[in-house]
Amino acid sequence: MARRVPIAPQAVDAPLTCSATFIVVTISRTAPDAVSTVRSALASVSDLTKNVSIRDLNASFACTVGIGAEVWDELTNGLPRPAELHAFKEVKGGKHIAVLTPGDVLFHIRAERRDLCFEFERQLMDLLGDAVEVVDHTVGFRYFDVRDLLGFVDGTANPVGQAVPQATLIAAEDDGNAVGGSYVVVQKYLHDLRGWKGLGVERQEAIIGRTKLENIELDDAGEEEQKAHKTLATIEDEEGTEHDILRDNMPFGNPAASEYGTYFIGYSKKLWVTEKMLERMFVGVPEGKHDRILDYSRAVTGSTFFAPSADVLDGLGE
Ligand code: HEM
Ligand SMILES: *[C@@H]1O[C@H](CO)[C@@H](O)[C@H](O)[C@H]1NC(C)=O
Ligand SMILES: *[C@@H]1O[C@H](CO)[C@@H](O)[C@H](O)[C@H]1NC(C)=O
Repeated sequence: MARRVPIAPQAVDAPLTCSATFIVVTISRTAPDAVSTVRSALASVSDLTKNVSIRDLNASFACTVGIGAEVWDELTNGLPRPAELHAFKEVKGGKHIAVLTPGDVLFHIRAERRDLCFEFERQLMDLLGDAVEVVDHTVGFRYFDVRDLLGFVDGTANPVGQAVPQATLIAAEDDGNAVGGSYVVVQKYLHDLRGWKGLGVERQEAIIGRTKLENIELDDAGEEEQKAHKTLATIEDEEGTEHDILRDNMPFGNPAASEYGTYFIGYSKKLWVTEKMLERMFVGVPEGKHDRILDYSRAVTGSTFFAPSADVLDGLGE
């Protein structure tokens, strides 16, 4: 019997940092050798990470790479497909839509220093050249005590410690073709901050399900009311087991352009869990009673990726 070699995941569990960049690209259909250029760039990401992270080992630099369903076969030279990998499922609620937007590869770049992210982006884009078209590039920043631009502490209910790999990394018994990998869903949201401010703090707290200053969880109001975000985003199966995802949301924006946003990113070993959250938020529970966060936050992108193990990523160059 072959010896079981432990499989190294990508740095899915890297900490929330002061700075993060999200780059979503599509592979060019016209540039010559685009697919092989991207393939070898992805295989170089761990090298590039070493070259940049050594310049300040305290900066918690990390980059994770996600690959989209449409390009998986071609980009990986036909590696077996992760069982749940498919394109982002658009969710049409009565009032709000979780839109699907193009995206073949995602780079989630994190560091305590913006300059390290920048340097990595520069070297990465040099490798990718005209083999890709950038469809979105968002630079996020830490806002006070990890607050989103709605003013609430964001990330509290995330799994910690051993619960992180349990929630995010696919094990051999889950899917033998995808061991050490993780599904990643991203959505870029733009906020109507004027409308949100007009609500007053108490109504905002009821929408989120936590107090604003102290970050204390609140019970939902009566059955008649729309449920709080934290309740709609809690997924329990028939046996009462809760299924978690790991969120690394970052605020971004440009006050001079009245742009205020949250970049949502969720890692999970079960794609259906994140999808179920989106369905509950956008369609509502019961149907029609959607997440009121959405009345003040518009999803302008939506893409799903699979972040394979570091071994798979490094091996793409062979
Ligand atoms: C405008 C975008 C969003 C904002 C501003 C936002 C903000 C928040 C805040 C402030 C909390 C409470 C603190 C915490 O536990 O982190 C929270 C909880 C949570 N959010 Fe979001 N969120 C957004 C979108 C999403 C989306 C799209 C999903 C999933 C697809 C999601 C999943 C969750 C989950 C799982 C929790 C924890 C629920 C719990 O167990 O208490 N969020 N979010
Ligand atoms: C990392 O640095 C080494 C040494 O300078 C260099 O040879 C290598 O090409 C760099 N790797 C990448 C992916 O840029
Ligand atoms: C890293 O941080 C530790 C603890 O904060 C500090 O003692 C050390 O000098 C730092 N190292 C560098 C290279 O900045």
